[in-house]
Amino acid sequence: MTNLKSTYSNEHLQKVQSSHWYPTEWIVRTMAGSYPNLALDKKIYENAKILDMGFGDGRNFTLLKNLGVKIYDVEITDEIVQSTQKKAEFNGIDCELKVGNNVDIPYPNEHFDIILASSSMFQITLTTQLLNT
Ligand SMILES: C[S@@+](CC[C@H](N)C(=O)[O-])C[C@H]1O[C@@H](n2cnc3c(N)ncnc32)[C@H](O)[C@@H]1O
Repeated sequence: MTNLKSTYSNEHLQKVQSSHWYPTEWIVRTMAGSYPNLALDKKIYENAKILDMGFGDGRNFTLLKNLGVKIYDVEITDEIVQSTQKKAEFNGIDCELKVGNNVDIPYPNEHFDIILASSSMFQITLTTQLLNT
């Protein structure tokens, strides 16, 4: 478990020091673009509460801000939370970042309107047991 947490922490500490901070392409396409067979009503975003589960270096924050959602985020270590918080503040992103994971979400039931797991769902499946042993 320590290795898992330190691996992700170290990876994201390096990334948040980079000046590059671009959103994940498929998230832009899905949330802001238009797929012919995806009838996603963009009006749902305004003031909706979104949980960005496993936000990493926070690369999707600017997109989420532009969409008008209220940003709440959960990551598995305090190091990731602290470092990404600094980057968010530097870039003028208003968000609430907390330590947690997919089976230990530090918010009450039904707090969120939308849940985003960008490139983290496969990690979540693998790590859930490890994080809670
Ligand atoms: C590949 S990164 C994706 C980061 C970001 N969402 C993105 O789109 O670039 C996967 C993230 O999932 C987080 N993660 C791994 N297991 C998790 C779990 N059980 N619950 C929540 N987050 C988890 C990791 O710490 C890591 O930051």
